[in-house]
Amino acid sequence: DRSALDDLKNAIRTIPDYPAPGIQFRDITTLLGDARAFRRAVDELVQPFAGLKIAKIAGIEARGFILGGAVAHQLSAGFVPVRKKGKLPHETVGMPYSLEYGDDEIEVHKDAVSRGERVLLVDDLVATGGTAEAAVKLLSSLGAEVVAACFIIDLPELGGADKIRRLGVPVRTLVSFAGH
Ligand code: PRP
Ligand code: MG
Repeated sequence: DRSALDDLKNAIRTIPDYPAPGIQFRDITTLLGDARAFRRAVDELVQPFAGLKIAKIAGIEARGFILGGAVAHQLSAGFVPVRKKGKLPHETVGMPYSLEYGDDEIEVHKDAVSRGERVLLVDDLVATGGTAEAAVKLLSSLGAEVVAACFIIDLPELGGADKIRRLGVPVRTLVSFAGH
């Protein structure tokens, strides 16, 4: 409900001019450190997906790991780490992407998902959507069915959630912040 989501929004701290001038950094560490808010955020993220036979959660390094592990536990699903380049030891597939500030590349193990497997993508925040788009493309290239993507925070002016929806992947976000 509305007030629960307001509580979540209030649990997120904003750091002005981090990591660069003009960027308002939405810091979830305050939410994670608040037991009630952390539980509520995870409950709200999973709410539409209980009963949808999600086989695996794909969490995006690093902040998506914290939420994705909890979501996987709650949905009795497996967990797939989507990692920054060079961190995974077995055979990987990779995808470069552009960030709000800078470029990067993410990778996933080739055998992390199987053909037709139903996967839910989890991260803390969608901004430009570049990271999540790369993750959706990677998982899809391995034959997984990306059932949805969910995030605590949407920055709607950056258009990322709509970018993911245009890939045919439904998006769930809990709170949004105007501006960047
Ligand atoms: C942040 C955030 C998302 C991504 C969103 O991660 O946690 O993963 O950026 O941006 P986008 O929608 O424009 O792609 P970041 O790469 O800063 O690293 P971290 O999670 O490891 O801290
Ligand atoms: Mg991240």
